[in-house]
Amino acid sequence: MKQLAPLSATPPPSTPVVGALVSATGPGKEAMHPLLPIMRNGLDPHEELGRLRHEHPVVAFPMLGLGKAWLVTRHEDVRAVLGDAGTFGNELSLARDVTMPHTAGQWRPGGLGFHDSPVHTRRRRLLAPAFRTRVIRDMARRLEDIVATQLERMAQAGPPADLVRALAEPVASAVMSELIGVPDADRRATGSGRFDLSGELGTSIAAADRSLEDVVELVARQRAGRRAGLLGRLISEHGDQLDDRELAGLIDGLLTGGLGTTASMIATGCLVLLRDDRLVTSLRREDAPIDRLLDELLRYVCVAQLAFPRFARRDVILRGQRIRAGDAVFCSLPTANRDPALGTDMDEVDPHRRTTAHLAFGFGVHRCLGAPLARLEMRVVFPALLRRFPGIRLAVPAERIEFKRFSVIHGVESLPVTW
Ligand code: HEM
Repeated sequence: MKQLAPLSATPPPSTPVVGALVSATGPGKEAMHPLLPIMRNGLDPHEELGRLRHEHPVVAFPMLGLGKAWLVTRHEDVRAVLGDAGTFGNELSLARDVTMPHTAGQWRPGGLGFHDSPVHTRRRRLLAPAFRTRVIRDMARRLEDIVATQLERMAQAGPPADLVRALAEPVASAVMSELIGVPDADRRATGSGRFDLSGELGTSIAAADRSLEDVVELVARQRAGRRAGLLGRLISEHGDQLDDRELAGLIDGLLTGGLGTTASMIATGCLVLLRDDRLVTSLRREDAPIDRLLDELLRYVCVAQLAFPRFARRDVILRGQRIRAGDAVFCSLPTANRDPALGTDMDEVDPHRRTTAHLAFGFGVHRCLGAPLARLEMRVVFPALLRRFPGIRLAVPAERIEFKRFSVIHGVESLPVTW
């Protein structure tokens, strides 16, 4: 049966009650905790999300500042939403009631994720050549050097080490710095804070604004002086069509899209590997089906908790729920990736699992542009780590590893290892 259909006369079912994370919003009305969509239990989506996927796959929730919002948790429905740019757009101007605190109305995100065609198509075409398979393949040798340097530093410092600070972050940063052509210090200035939603939404928007200002300065400097990397190429080839702010938006989108996600995926991927001898053995085999294992890690860990918000362009019914034009729709990628409809034991890591159409990189026209690069980084880092430190193991029991809380990009806070 087609799940996504134009608005019918069917009345929507009443708002469901969501177990322990219910917060009352009025007599007889209950809604779920606004942060539930980014809550995890270790590496698993919060159990309430699993329950929602089963019982209320499309559910209203109170997203601060974005009017009425819906959470979608089933794999099939997430693909339906992300794959239908004609019904669900990314432009904030489509939202019915944007009342974000702080910089609210003036927030003009650059990059790709908050734009639709034709702006999105034009910008994505400018960046796409840098991410073609051949171009990324040519980066492999350089990437191996970057990883080897970092592993050597780790060896010299001696055990124990925190794989987040000693490997994952520096590798992801160095790759991004070279790709884009921004020096380390400047790149660091664009750090996170914006993915942490434990405080007010306005705080994370303010962090995003500050980062963008830093990048605008970088762009101006390269326009006037020495040019490097993708930024230098964009200035040289398209600098007359793009002003500093638009260029900065594109670069900022790459930095924020590519840095924390990849670092988190490397570190958290290491945790999943090191807590399971089976996976380490499988990865050490010469003929290891590494791409299958990488896909399984991406599916299982799924660091990006949500796809970019989508906004309904017109009234639609999804799984019996009436989504009105202007409502925001959030897709929970980790919950969709664990959907039992995809196969058996989806909460387990199975290195031999036949590739699933996982959604760790999103889906549709906004699917992650940097996916080939992220894959390459994982493909190089994991085997290199196991080769360089044959006896590497977790320095604390896996149950004591701390995870980020309330972060749009999930991952471990630190990963102590020894050898
Ligand atoms: C493991 C690492 C990564 C993960 C899990 C990841 C995940 C994602 C996800 C879920 C989306 C949103 C898709 C949607 O809303 O439909 C996205 C978009 C994007 N990602 Fe990644 N990403 C990763 C690495 C990277 C890297 C390394 C780069 C760049 C160097 C990058 C650049 C982008 C860009 C530019 C977009 C916006 C695409 C668009 O709107 O057209 N990502 N990514």
